[in-house]
Amino acid sequence: MFLLEISYLIGSISFIVGLKMLSSPDKARMGNIYAAIGMGIAILATIVFHEKDGQSIGNIPWIIGGMAIGTVIGWLMAMKVKMTAMPQMVSFFNGMGGACAAIISLVEFNSSHGAGSHDMGFLLIVFLGLAIGSVSFSGSIIAYGKLDGWINDIRGSWMKIVNLAFMAVVLGMIAAEVFAPGILGPNAIWMLLVVSLLYGVTFVMPIGGADMPVVISLLNSFTGMAAAFGGFLYGNAVMLTGGILVGSAGTILTVLMCKAMNRSLLNVIIGSFGGGGAAVGGGADGEQVAKEISVTDAAILCAYANKVCIVPGYGLAVAQAQHVCHEFEKSLEGRGIDVTFAIHPVAGRMPGHMNVLLAEADVPYPKLVEMDDANPQLPNTDVIIIVGANDVVNPAAEDDPSSPIYGMPVIKAWEAKNVIVMKRSMNPGYAGIQNQLFFHTRTKMLFGDAKESLQNLVSELKNL
Ligand code: TAP
Repeated sequence: MFLLEISYLIGSISFIVGLKMLSSPDKARMGNIYAAIGMGIAILATIVFHEKDGQSIGNIPWIIGGMAIGTVIGWLMAMKVKMTAMPQMVSFFNGMGGACAAIISLVEFNSSHGAGSHDMGFLLIVFLGLAIGSVSFSGSIIAYGKLDGWINDIRGSWMKIVNLAFMAVVLGMIAAEVFAPGILGPNAIWMLLVVSLLYGVTFVMPIGGADMPVVISLLNSFTGMAAAFGGFLYGNAVMLTGGILVGSAGTILTVLMCKAMNRSLLNVIIGSFGGGGAAVGGGADGEQVAKEISVTDAAILCAYANKVCIVPGYGLAVAQAQHVCHEFEKSLEGRGIDVTFAIHPVAGRMPGHMNVLLAEADVPYPKLVEMDDANPQLPNTDVIIIVGANDVVNPAAEDDPSSPIYGMPVIKAWEAKNVIVMKRSMNPGYAGIQNQLFFHTRTKMLFGDAKESLQNLVSELKNL
């Protein structure tokens, strides 16, 4: 027992150290490995040292078989996933965590012979773990389907009523079974499972596809909570610590994302922002004309600059242009030009999206400057190059109180001496609104796929 407790302590410490390291991109890979080793120690110690009533754990071939299948599936998925499909994978894995938590509650409840024989605390933990884990599972699978494009939003004010009804039924069933065990009959736990799974579906269904990262983070915190309930059930310290860490990290991330988008969580859950593709607002944009620039002129502008700032956005991920972007940066630096990347906290479609992409292309981490540090340097920047970003450089966030993004902190690209915007068309970004930056006197548009445009720029720079 002593060895088991020590192993759990080591596991818990490595989760905390790993999580801390995940907050810095240059240490994140190592942090992930630490946390995985901690989890490995906790699993191994449970198999080897765990005892109940003098009996060791048993069913070893089943456990090893299940772990082997899970490891192969997880490994293959992680090796094959494209960077643009990372949010889907996170959602899928989160759903599996929720399912595990729900199964733990089901197994514990059934192996302890039904509701009649338990105290209130036990029943509360079992039912909450089941409900939250199930919502997290079905909600995450719907989020996965939406991000992958095979499930469409179902909107309408009636969805809010359906959701409230499901929530009331789930809470009502839990309260009934906790205060009057057995009142809903022998199948209460199965009924709660079905209603919770349905609630997970209807909860995520109306949320705009592009709002999924926030929802996934919220569901992630649900999974953490459900796992922590499992830790309570088993009196298992490492499960409790892991669950609390995931639950609180997910909650903090959800709040930070909402803050960086200047939206409330309620607005994300019931609002319709981000679902559409058509431009709305923007005043008399039809009369405005954006100026274009040729690749040669853009290359000349960059070649004679002293200071260049690159602002990556979702289009960089779509075009998979991170490697050629690094090549472009190196060719400018080869000419003695000071190049930095200005990183907006919600650029792209998942937290740290740009950091991950640029790290994959081996862009040195000190080159990445966070928005708050980048903004004061922009008036001294000769050329700012916006690579597939839109909302995160939209001045409407500062000067148009009627804009849905008003108040969201943005990169003030218009303060640089010259602005080059790389995108394929005048289409809006995630928020579905027009961007006045494209019509600014200092702005020139370089239309085309970001990867091709950057490749052309690199070739032009070689000829200069
Ligand atoms: P967006 O505002 O979505 O703009 C991306 C732009 O990339 C589009 O205007 C698109 O224009 C362009 N693009 C797409 N594919 C391209 C390609 N192959 N080559 C060149 N350009 C391409 O992206 P952003 O500026 O990164 O802002 C992120 C948005 O997502 C914010 O509104 C944020 O609130 C939201 N959001 C972020 C997160 C996280 S955690 N990052 C979570 C939820 C929501 P064209 O179609 O004309 O090319």
